[in-house]
Amino acid sequence: MISKMKKALAALCASLSMLAAHEVAQAQSEPYKVFDTKPVITEGPYLVAMSDTAVSVVWMTDAPSHAKVRLDDGSKVREIEPQVDGLVPVGLRHVVTITGLAPGTRYSYEAIATRVVKLKPYWPDKGLSISSPAASFTTFSARQPAASFSVITDTHEDTARIGRLLKLVDWSRTDALVHLGDAFNWLDSEEQLFGKWLRPTFAAMGPGKPLLYARGNHELRGAFARQLSGYVPTPEGTYYYSRAMGPVHLLVLDTAEDKPDDTNVYAQLNRTQPYREEELAWLRGQVSGDKHLANAPFRVVAMHQSDWGALPDKGAAWTALANQAGIDLIIAGHDHKFSYEAPNQQHSYHQLILGQDQLARVDATDRVLTVKVSTDKGAPVYTLTIPARR
Ligand SMILES: [Fe+2]
Repeated sequence: MISKMKKALAALCASLSMLAAHEVAQAQSEPYKVFDTKPVITEGPYLVAMSDTAVSVVWMTDAPSHAKVRLDDGSKVREIEPQVDGLVPVGLRHVVTITGLAPGTRYSYEAIATRVVKLKPYWPDKGLSISSPAASFTTFSARQPAASFSVITDTHEDTARIGRLLKLVDWSRTDALVHLGDAFNWLDSEEQLFGKWLRPTFAAMGPGKPLLYARGNHELRGAFARQLSGYVPTPEGTYYYSRAMGPVHLLVLDTAEDKPDDTNVYAQLNRTQPYREEELAWLRGQVSGDKHLANAPFRVVAMHQSDWGALPDKGAAWTALANQAGIDLIIAGHDHKFSYEAPNQQHSYHQLILGQDQLARVDATDRVLTVKVSTDKGAPVYTLTIPARR
């Protein structure tokens, strides 16, 4: 009986090893199929939320693909290929977040997508690769001698407005574009996201300048609002972040909704209050622990609502923290018209609210920060000059 079982077991092992051998032979003689088909890059690549050491590269293809970025710093080429839970993402939208970059360094990059024809469990069918034209960017640096960025806000799906404003920007002298939110009335679809905002924006900016985006209240609304962060990702994974740009320490904040969570129109689907508490805790950590923030000649906050959004304390804790942190300038939108408030008894910072058809250019050295606001025709509106406090 025992010898019969042993024989049966031996036979089973033999057939299993034959099966394994057969599979190996098949793998060697018949590699996965590669069809003669390439994806087309339909949007981008574009750069989001660059810092001194990281940047997110985003692009779209017309067909499911996997993606990587080829990066060249002039002496060494490396490829950055994302994985999520151990799998290479396959889809139409491609996000490659590059970390570990050197500050103040110029890189050239290519966005590469390889077609996946059919995602079968074994031997998926593949296609060929397409590469974007090489483009280059320069990372920010805490030590750059000057910082320059342009700011627009509340473009509200008006693509002609975006075109008029961005035509005024001298991109060769601009580190980044800051958009202070409300690019939309509400968000319904990917096509709206590109058609009414990102496509005209990056048509003007090109693939080498980064967008720094501060979310507006209108971007919390609509069926596609929950997908927005996938298209304007940040290396941090949050809509609020800080950037060391030489003489400027820039804090980009998310002021979220302009009405409380229990407002009936949101049907109990908003939880901005705990979210804002998390953001405030993060900001406290920045204020107490970030050396560049503490030592920079200028601390600038870029956000959508100048009153910090809908908060139970009406923003008192945020104003107190901004005063304590020595914030020099808050630049905001939301009102659709220009206003300026000098430092006063309530706040020790300059507060500039940019109008809807206006462009602000911010230039800073370690001695002076200048904000020049102009109309969409380039006519001057206001110039603010802030000397460094020390
Ligand atoms: Fe707004």
